[in-house]
Amino acid sequence: MAYFQCHNFNNQYQCSLSFSQFRAKKAIRCEERGYLGLDGRKRLRILIAGGGVGGLVLALAARKRGYDVKVFERDLSAVRGEGQHRGPIQLLSSALAVLESIDEDVTKRIVEAGCVTGNRINGLADGLSGEWFTKFDLFTPAVTRGLPVTQVICRIALQNILVSAVGKDIVNNNSKVVDFVDDSNKVRVILEDGRQYEGDVLVGADGIWSKVRSKLFGAQPAHYSNYTCYSGLTNFVPPYIDTVGYRVFLGSNQYFVAIDVGSGKMQWYAFHKQAPMNGDSPGKKERLLELFGSWCSNVVTLISETTEDMILQRDIYDRDMIYSWGNGRVTLLGDAAHPMQPNLGQGGCMAIEVTNIGMITSPL
Ligand SMILES: Cc1cc2nc3c(=O)[nH]c(=O)nc-3n(C[C@H](O)[C@H](O)[C@H](O)COP(=O)(O)OP(=O)(O)OC[C@H]3O[C@@H](n4cnc5c(N)ncnc54)[C@H](O)[C@@H]3O)c2cc1C
Ligand SMILES: *[C@@H]1O[C@H](CO)[C@@H](O)[C@H](O)[C@H]1NC(C)=O
Ligand SMILES: *[C@@H]1O[C@H](CO)[C@@H](O)[C@H](O)[C@H]1NC(C)=O
Repeated sequence: MAYFQCHNFNNQYQCSLSFSQFRAKKAIRCEERGYLGLDGRKRLRILIAGGGVGGLVLALAARKRGYDVKVFERDLSAVRGEGQHRGPIQLLSSALAVLESIDEDVTKRIVEAGCVTGNRINGLADGLSGEWFTKFDLFTPAVTRGLPVTQVICRIALQNILVSAVGKDIVNNNSKVVDFVDDSNKVRVILEDGRQYEGDVLVGADGIWSKVRSKLFGAQPAHYSNYTCYSGLTNFVPPYIDTVGYRVFLGSNQYFVAIDVGSGKMQWYAFHKQAPMNGDSPGKKERLLELFGSWCSNVVTLISETTEDMILQRDIYDRDMIYSWGNGRVTLLGDAAHPMQPNLGQGGCMAIEVTNIGMITSPL
């Protein structure tokens, strides 16, 4: 968990951003001087590189605490830089609980726009026969702990809710971060078009290809996971819609994930072990029907019911773990710090959970 702490000593803020993650202890301390908010009080200025799920949830939490926040996103419409229909995101009970503690109203909007899947059957099935291997109970563990039930939401819907909650004036579009300068009293972020902004803290929430991370710790290559991933969205409502939430069909060197995302839409991911494709190329539906053609009808029907233009393809990458996520006034959040392969549906949830902000004696 990371948290900002602010203490008011002799009218000077002492702020620290701490990470008490396993083997990742890192803390920065900074003395706030000089900056006055419109209300005449000193406010910590937080610069956030990246307006993905991590950056936006952090911005929401920080803004609600009265901090001065700026988010720099290179392309707000891209959603992970890959387009509008990048599939759903599953928000597990633990991440939803954090969102609720940050902003109940926003969480309510997310729950309304999404689709609760945690009260249905979720689990792993055999891709060929369609028979269940195992089912996960996502419901009992949540309700016995008083947590919201796991749900799924379309990424663009989630992003739109978060952007409007944070405020369009705070989230800057067309703002690609290319560099920063940390002079130990303040940090300055530099955008591609030459604009520069000064703050007290910079959080690199700019994803797996993070510029902030490579500046902090040196550029390191990402590793290809050996799987490419197709994602599709279809207006097809299957007969099992009321009983099944999130189902992973497994096979040899390929697997297929099918999810109800609400509003009469199903989204799916098809993973295939192969050399990297290095970019989306035509004929995806045909390729998928060849790869998955002998699989159970649940899988084949979803592919058949999806139009070519609603199928996107990308290669899945990962990185080695790093045990320190920050230095000086700069730190990392989400995939920039700890990218994950999508198999557990946890990367976004982890980004949300790490934004959990606790503050002591903040008169802001
Ligand atoms: C197929 C797939 C399925 C997944 N399913 C799930 C799931 O069900 N549940 C779950 O929790 N997680 C899931 N994940 C993981 C999840 O998508 C990521 O962990 C999550 O998006 C990380 O959030 P982030 O904010 O750290 O990074 P991102 O969401 O990648 O956001 C980074 C943002 O920074 C912007 N950016 C990048 N560089 C710059 C720059 N230089 N300047 C300015 N802006 C920049 C990008 O445009 C982007 O908007 C899945 C991942 C994949 C690939
Ligand atoms: C963000 O900027 C891009 C690139 O100029 C533009 O295509 C897109 O419509 C903008 N998105 C939003 C939500 O303003
Ligand atoms: C990808 O496959 C190669 C060759 O089989 C293997 O050496 C490598 O470890 C695999 N990479 C991952 C991330 O599993």
